[in-house]
Amino acid sequence: MLDVKLSQAEKLINLTSKANDNLTISKTKLLTITSGKGGVGKSTFTANFAYILSQKGLKVLVLDADIGLANMQVLFDVKPVVTLFDYINGHKKLKEVIVETKYQNLSLIAGKSGYQYGSNSNSFIFSRLVEDILELNYYDILIVDTGAGLNDYVKEFLKVSTNILAITSTDPSALTDVYSLIKMLAIDKKSLMLCFNHTKNDLIGETISNSLVNLAKKNRLKSEFVIKYIGSVPSSENITRAARARKIFVNEFRQEEAAHKLQNIVDSVLKNI
Ligand SMILES: Nc1ncnc2c1ncn2[C@@H]1O[C@H](COP(=O)(O)OP(=O)(O)OP(=O)(O)O)[C@@H](O)[C@H]1O
Ligand SMILES: [Mg+2]
Repeated sequence: MLDVKLSQAEKLINLTSKANDNLTISKTKLLTITSGKGGVGKSTFTANFAYILSQKGLKVLVLDADIGLANMQVLFDVKPVVTLFDYINGHKKLKEVIVETKYQNLSLIAGKSGYQYGSNSNSFIFSRLVEDILELNYYDILIVDTGAGLNDYVKEFLKVSTNILAITSTDPSALTDVYSLIKMLAIDKKSLMLCFNHTKNDLIGETISNSLVNLAKKNRLKSEFVIKYIGSVPSSENITRAARARKIFVNEFRQEEAAHKLQNIVDSVLKNI
């Protein structure tokens, strides 16, 4: 019992000190995908985005960091018996919680639905998890799907990320939330990539993106902070259809406009990270 307690204490000390270090220099690029509002299509976007990257021959690891509503395993059609919490709790090594998907070059660290934390002060553990993945120096890109909102866990991921992509719909409430995200990031980040989902055409996305930039200027947010419009994805019934069948939309419906848009978005992001 004492041994267990000691090792947990040691682990905590180790975690705390490492979390304060600078992030490791690694070949693995970190991209955090977030939104303000929930349900805007973040996880669906992340799954398709990750798949496109993997098809380009990049080694991709997706971390499902949606605390409470993890669903990346459903989108990738895997049934993991281990989740990131087995690593966080010290039951498994990092490599043991990385599961292969049926898609080449595409791996997943699954989240756990309904996971409850005792205390939000544990959120720093996530920056340590990211650090450990970067230290593996194996993947070309680590994509983190954060949960919705701006809770402590999401903030922790944002803190360690230089490449942040926000996805939003054009609903007023989603735009209000994304603006709150912009306000927060402008304090100590350099830029944000912005992508619209359920958007009829690029012009709408670009126009709204410019409006957000103007609003930021008007409210005197830090002038060096850059909001980069990355692209728009239209609504498509086949996106939902593919997800229900546990298939990847861009793989099943390659010729659809939304699939082309997603491909273009990946190319734009690759130029920016
Ligand atoms: N462009 C689209 N066209 C049609 N349906 C879409 C599109 N994008 C996402 N969806 C559907 O919208 C629903 C919500 O998507 P998803 O779960 O990816 O959102 P989310 O932002 O990750 O939600 P949460 O905040 O709960 O994590 C799903 O049923 C998905 O299939
Ligand atoms: Mg989600």
